[in-house]
Amino acid sequence: MTREPPLALLAEITHRCPLQCPYCSNPVELVRAGAELATADWQRLIDEAAALGILQIHFSGGEPMVRTDLAQLVGHARAAGLYTNLITSGVLLDATKMEALARAGLDHVQISIQDSDPAGSDLISAYPGALPKKRQAALLVGEAGLALTINAVVHRQNLDRVGDMIAFAEEVEAQRIEIAHVQYYGWALKNRDFLMPTLAQLDAATALVERERARLGGRLVIDYVIPDYYARKPKACMGGWGRRFLNVSPEGKVLPCHAAETITSLAFATYPERSLADIWADDPAFAAFRGTDWMPETCKSCDRREIDWGGCRCQALALTGEAGAIDPACERSPRHDELFDLARAASLAEPVVRAWRRMGGKS
Ligand code: FES
Repeated sequence: MTREPPLALLAEITHRCPLQCPYCSNPVELVRAGAELATADWQRLIDEAAALGILQIHFSGGEPMVRTDLAQLVGHARAAGLYTNLITSGVLLDATKMEALARAGLDHVQISIQDSDPAGSDLISAYPGALPKKRQAALLVGEAGLALTINAVVHRQNLDRVGDMIAFAEEVEAQRIEIAHVQYYGWALKNRDFLMPTLAQLDAATALVERERARLGGRLVIDYVIPDYYARKPKACMGGWGRRFLNVSPEGKVLPCHAAETITSLAFATYPERSLADIWADDPAFAAFRGTDWMPETCKSCDRREIDWGGCRCQALALTGEAGAIDPACERSPRHDELFDLARAASLAEPVVRAWRRMGGKS
């Protein structure tokens, strides 16, 4: 059977990062610099991605700007016909680097912010002075004529300032802001009590986002999805397992999503030991939750089975111990009510960081 090609490749070219956010989406066991794929490997992988029919590449990390070959890789991807996006914290982006990246053909930049308040930003990133650097980086992106998205990761410690984060995106003339609630696996699962918002915080933020959408009228697009723990329906995580995305880790593991390695019952193929096309076509880890055949009966018989594709497998594992279980974010899951209780308890617990994101996976 010929399989539809993936839409996008998330290239996590490094796990090195000067920030230590306690909700980082990288695995708890971070890959060290010495194990990263070399420039030539990434270039071959990019060529294979283009040949496979992939349209977009997202350079991510860690902080992708710590790799000195970033502009070279961007240029290579652009020459291969891919739309290129850089996902960065912005703290290492200066005028010289911006010029090199623009010259290489970079199309879009996504800059994450930890908070609109400098002290809150310093606290979460453990990187003093991060926010002014990010503002400067965002302005450089605009001056270079590139498209800009601000990515604001929200949680209990900053959700009350969501309006100020939207104002930040307006001030730096971004075209889009993604207000992304923390996802609870990996680092964030360890720090759930610190990060889980209360329901009252969430309701206030959701109402404010609606008002801001009306005020902005599309001048600044706001992407906003409520967090799974307070949702009634699961999200179509990654647009469905093995349907739209490939994620490649710094050492070349080819994964259906950035958190897939938390599912330790699956073995993941490594590039360049297998080609990208082979992995996409028939790797058992990709096949494990692809489509609808794997689903429990409740999901298989649900009208939304090809809308949410069964939700998030990493979350199902984190909450039930079984990656193939119904995602508890779904109101049809027998564990759904527990999830709400869990969220409520975490949101009222003492807000302590149990693990900062550091090499070695230790707090
Ligand atoms: Fe892995 Fe959702 S993060 S399936």
